[in-house]
Amino acid sequence: MQDNVRPESMERITTPALAEAFISEQIGALRAQIGGDKVLLALSGGVDSSVVAALLIRAVGKQLVCVHVNHGLLRKGEPEQVIRVFRDEMDANLIYVDAVDRFLDKLAGVADPEQKRKIIGKEFIDVFAEEAARLDGIRFLAQGTIYPDILESGPVKSHHNVGGLPEELNFELVEPIKLLFKDEVRVVGKALGLPDSMVYRQPFPGPGLGVRCTGAITRDRLEALRESDAILREEFEKNGLAGKVWQYFTIVPDYKSTGVIDGKRSFDWPVVIRAVNTRDAMTAEIEEIPYPLLHHITRRITSEVRGVNRVLYDLTPKPTGTIEWE
Ligand code: XMP
Repeated sequence: MQDNVRPESMERITTPALAEAFISEQIGALRAQIGGDKVLLALSGGVDSSVVAALLIRAVGKQLVCVHVNHGLLRKGEPEQVIRVFRDEMDANLIYVDAVDRFLDKLAGVADPEQKRKIIGKEFIDVFAEEAARLDGIRFLAQGTIYPDILESGPVKSHHNVGGLPEELNFELVEPIKLLFKDEVRVVGKALGLPDSMVYRQPFPGPGLGVRCTGAITRDRLEALRESDAILREEFEKNGLAGKVWQYFTIVPDYKSTGVIDGKRSFDWPVVIRAVNTRDAMTAEIEEIPYPLLHHITRRITSEVRGVNRVLYDLTPKPTGTIEWE
């Protein structure tokens, strides 16, 4: 496991010049490892898999086959961005799999959070393995493993992160960023020309919006979650909070309350806003959001999102609340 240990002499990649040096070195190493063979990558659109994709596109071009699985639990605009950046701009060999119905059908009526996570994880591996089986001549599997994954878990991030290694797939691994820390991955991503919205993306759990649409997921409540999350992100970006707050998102719990909309009684969902700062996700503090902005976001969500009549602000630090609601 020697090559899983970061050498003391390895300089921290903090500048574009150091990133360029890393990129050239990796391109050489990847070409030497891969030769003329094909490489498969599960491309979620998160920073790690995106950086690995961009590196491999530079190194071996169309020998890389990226598979982007849309499980229906991604944020608004994410699948479109993956297609635009990788297929349209980088000319990657990208297979887009619309598995939305398949995931949502499997999740229908399932309220237990652990059960939901298991279904999402298993289904993801099944979909990915099916796509892999359709392809001929794949020898390698690329992964966005980074150094903290090695330090924390030994082998590979798979259980906590949808998009992890489908273990039954018997490929040789390609892990070009496995000795990098997250901040270095971002510097490299920037040097590779990835958009800031990908490079500086806030953490997003593998099961995605599934853990924020609490209880049994329904399509209409998931839609309310996706739309309210998009409004929150837009307003945080416009108001300079996107770089200041570590993680911010909405939750739509599985219950309704009475309200009044256009002079008529309504019985609709609340949207909960969660915005936290943390160093390591083990504990978290509440970021103070200016009241006028909270009022503005509340007005937008209640007028623009169907099926919502209230907005709540979660003031709970971790502990006692976890960052996610499930
Ligand atoms: P909690 O909710 O445990 O979250 O305070 C801590 C951090 O981990 C993320 N998280 C997950 N990430 N798969 C992931 O890849 C998961 O199942 C999962 N659950 C929580 C969460 O978004 C936060 O950043």
